[in-house]
Amino acid sequence: MAASQEQLARFVLKPLVLLGCLAPLGWLAAGVAGVGGMSLGVNPVEEILHTLGKWGLNFLLITLCVTPLRQITGWVYWIRFRRMLGLTAFFYLLGHFLFYLLVDQGFYLRVLIEDIARRPYITVGFAGLMLLVPLALTSTKAAMRRLGRRWQKLHRLVYVATFLGCVHYYWQVKADVREPLYYFAALTLLLGWRWWKRRARPSREMESTVRRRRPVSDDYPQSQPEFRQAPANPRP
Ligand code: HEM
Repeated sequence: MAASQEQLARFVLKPLVLLGCLAPLGWLAAGVAGVGGMSLGVNPVEEILHTLGKWGLNFLLITLCVTPLRQITGWVYWIRFRRMLGLTAFFYLLGHFLFYLLVDQGFYLRVLIEDIARRPYITVGFAGLMLLVPLALTSTKAAMRRLGRRWQKLHRLVYVATFLGCVHYYWQVKADVREPLYYFAALTLLLGWRWWKRRARPSREMESTVRRRRPVSDDYPQSQPEFRQAPANPRP
């Protein structure tokens, strides 16, 4: 049973998730190439910049949905998609930044540095992106093994980076702030869920007694029995 679930996650769902991750990029490429009469509108540079930023933020939030989904459905294999989703968020945001630097600003580093210093929404966006760099660099299984519990702590930076991404979005919107507020609401919901689940956990004292007997953790599903049978690629 576990083996068929494992195969479903690995050979069917994972490729589908990968396709979903690439879809916004495909949409942009089709718009640039004018496939089937598609176009990026009157301002393609702005459209590309915005699409990359928006999908970077979408994927950050989708990545944060993995743990609640696993807890709600009890289906442990959600975790198999987390690294792919997190890295997709990072690459869209790196693309967003590089597109801004190379195309929007013509690779004028001085202008970029001035922007970071003078425009608060750029400062905040840049800080968010910088926080994601160590997370992307330590997303390998070797880094997870090397860092152990510290990996988990380090990767909590994703909450701060997503919050900064929402602030960045809110600040750059000129009139209608409804959409960035929906993003704040989604983030609040996801963080609220985690806080609530943490509160519902047994106290630290009880937890350490339990852990001594059987190591079980929400964030370390590979220590759970199901994951002992499903060793490959458990973490983002
Ligand atoms: C965590 C990092 C970041 C996230 C989540 C993010 C996300 C976003 C989002 C959602 C938008 C609005 C898209 C829309 O209106 O549809 C946006 C716009 C923008 N972002 Fe970012 N961004 C990040 C980092 C950066 C960085 C590092 C830069 C440049 C240094 C940057 C420059 C811009 C610019 C110039 C715009 C368009 C502003 C305008 O049209 O006036 N962003 N970003």
